[in-house]
Amino acid sequence: MPEGELEVWSVIVAAGSGERLDADRPKAFVRLGNRTLVAASLEAFEEHPGVSGVVCVVPEGWEDRLSAVVDDLAAGKVAAAVAGGSSRAESVRRGLELVPEGVAFVLVHDAARPLVTTAVIDAVLIGLAEGADGVVPSLAVTDTVKRVGGDGTVVETLHRADLRAAQTPQGFPAGVLRRAFATAGADAAVATDCASLVERAGGRVICVAGDPQNIKVTTRADLHRAAELLADRAD
Ligand code: C5P
Repeated sequence: MPEGELEVWSVIVAAGSGERLDADRPKAFVRLGNRTLVAASLEAFEEHPGVSGVVCVVPEGWEDRLSAVVDDLAAGKVAAAVAGGSSRAESVRRGLELVPEGVAFVLVHDAARPLVTTAVIDAVLIGLAEGADGVVPSLAVTDTVKRVGGDGTVVETLHRADLRAAQTPQGFPAGVLRRAFATAGADAAVATDCASLVERAGGRVICVAGDPQNIKVTTRADLHRAAELLADRAD
């Protein structure tokens, strides 16, 4: 990292079980092409010149397997692997604890998005450099989205032009994210992303361009789609 530049670290959360994938191992350790989902994400941050350190959060008991992945990639930026918690937020919190105090910015990324690109990471870093409290790569929504009650009755139809589908990595000044977690306390457990915690704490969160290929692998069909996209990139 050039002298005087603010340091950026990434926290990659890979501690989910991935039940909807119906695999014999945690989702992050499922194969995609010739590597695992978590390896693909690690490689993207390892290779990005703006990122100087990585913390990876894995399911309890999978720390050694992560070390093998790191050795395989010769990923020298990976400073630590730690066991995650029962919610995504708890996993992020545990990863964040291992990010050194002097680090200026944190990029939180879901290992479930193995096709993250340099361009998306760049867009998030530019948003941070402009002073936002949170930066979310996102896409316009093509479906009409309805809010429903418990019995399926529609409560509201949301105005589609105002909606964005949020991706990761989401970027934050480290202190802002730490304070948002402290403010949320146990309520953080229901958050499905980190930006929502910063929003609730009063931070200014902006959306920047995501990438349609930066898909989240949830089901078998997503895994096949990710493999196709990866193969197209290799051509
Ligand atoms: O479950 P979902 O796909 O929304 O998870 C998003 C990301 O958060 C995944 O990369 C998953 O591994 C991670 N996660 C985690 N700890 C949990 C739940 C999810 O690290 N307890």
